[in-house]
Amino acid sequence: MSKHSPEQLQIFLDVATEAVMAAGAILQERWGKLTNIEEKSRPGDLVTEVDRLAEAEILKVLRRHVPEHQILAEESGKLGELDSEYLWAIDPLDGTTNYAHGYPVAAVSAGLLFEGVPIVGAVYNPFRNELLRAASGLGATCNRRPIQVSQTKELSKTILVTGFAYDRRETTDNNYAEFCYLTHLTQGVRRSGSAAIDITDVACGRIDGYWERGISPWDIVAGIIILTEAGGKVTAYDGSPLKIESGRILATNGQIHNSLSKALVETPPLANWNS
Ligand code: IPD
Ligand code: CA
Ligand code: CA
Repeated sequence: MSKHSPEQLQIFLDVATEAVMAAGAILQERWGKLTNIEEKSRPGDLVTEVDRLAEAEILKVLRRHVPEHQILAEESGKLGELDSEYLWAIDPLDGTTNYAHGYPVAAVSAGLLFEGVPIVGAVYNPFRNELLRAASGLGATCNRRPIQVSQTKELSKTILVTGFAYDRRETTDNNYAEFCYLTHLTQGVRRSGSAAIDITDVACGRIDGYWERGISPWDIVAGIIILTEAGGKVTAYDGSPLKIESGRILATNGQIHNSLSKALVETPPLANWNS
């Protein structure tokens, strides 16, 4: 439980909302008009002028309202007071590959950690015009209506979602085996290209579970608090407490958590899974 009063949490939630809506307006205005697409860390890891413009807008909002807080923003890295116990994790455009290709699946994500624990989150999807929000103890909403995870109990009845990190060609730990195995065990596994949308779709009850490796805090901090406030569960793959910096997350409706965890831990090597 957070040490913050509901009023204080609401103030932070309003800041998060202002930030994601300001960035979302940029994603909308610039849609279809990109002039600059570059590769960042490796081939396929893209950044556009919209990632940078949207991030600059978010930083302006945070500096105006909470100048004393630290910020971890995807395009700018770590900023601000190093001794603050508050840290914002910001993804100004989650789904850059989709956006750069004109595939309308992307979102803006702003989450606030207090002493390493997510306490507030807002995710705005300008293509669905959906604003997902939560703060600890205050519940989770989509466009201001309460949301809840699904009640699906059996893995064989689920629909899941996952993603593949940009380093997937450089490692055999690339999630390909898990993707095939879970496709076999469930009603389907989707890959949206936006981790923030994936985890909040679990919060909305549209998807029963999400897992991914190779992700960053800005991809998931907002989604974690939104999902847990919607009744979901987040852990490491093996069910142990989640370490946000580990880059690995298992996020479900709670009901299928153990069975999905078991399947992930027991995934056979790719060549042998159906032999
Ligand atoms: C990516 C998306 C994608 C996930 C990648 C992320 P970006 O973020 O969330 O779904 O599979 O691991 O890096 O680069 O579009 O902000
Ligand atoms: Ca991202
Ligand atoms: Ca991004």
